[in-house]
Amino acid sequence: MKPFSESCVQNREPIFNIIQPLFENSKNLLEIGSGTGQHAVYFAKEMPHLSWQTSDLEENHEGINQWLNEAQLSNIKPPVSLAACDQLAWTSLDGPGKYDAIFSANAVHIMGKEDVQCLIKNIGTVIAQNGLFVLYGPFNYDGKFTSESNARFDIWLKDRNPESGIRDFEWLDELANQAGMTFQQDYKMPANNRILVWRK
Ligand SMILES: C[S@@+](CC[C@H](N)C(=O)[O-])C[C@H]1O[C@@H](n2cnc3c(N)ncnc32)[C@H](O)[C@@H]1O
Repeated sequence: MKPFSESCVQNREPIFNIIQPLFENSKNLLEIGSGTGQHAVYFAKEMPHLSWQTSDLEENHEGINQWLNEAQLSNIKPPVSLAACDQLAWTSLDGPGKYDAIFSANAVHIMGKEDVQCLIKNIGTVIAQNGLFVLYGPFNYDGKFTSESNARFDIWLKDRNPESGIRDFEWLDELANQAGMTFQQDYKMPANNRILVWRK
């Protein structure tokens, strides 16, 4: 059965309203952790100037492909297998500096801290000069949750996997700096989420 995420349906429009102007002049986008593939289908349809490369762990490819096959959009590419710390997979991507846009939603609180470190370091190697790295999800500031519901969500995440957890903006920014990216903007989003933007 085709996977379905209700939260994608709820958050896709507010996310689109922010990323559409950000990606206006972008061409090649890499999405990390495409999940069901719903975001890719929605955003790529609304932004036909983008070539949208989906990616995820192998286990999600079948579902993503079902969404892609149904949508029949010429500007989405089938998922590549891309785990955060899989060096070989990152070096097999289309070459350093290929992507002028990198997008990831709701992934850095799922993967472990070590994976987040790999992820941002690897993004630094495939992102083009002036390219944008756009991260959607819940984040903490100065080690503090921005809401009660995010604090509860963090407990729920850690019950599922002790490695998971809502990440600190300051830590992500430090990793992005080390990867050659500079913080640009923090957008407040519905349901205590944010969109964080860095530029290479
Ligand atoms: C909560 S889902 C979010 C999916 C989708 N982006 C969304 O917003 O609905 C988290 C995604 O991160 C991916 N993921 C988890 N650990 C990962 C890792 N180490 N490397 C790459 N992707 C990972 C999962 O496979 C999953 O697709």
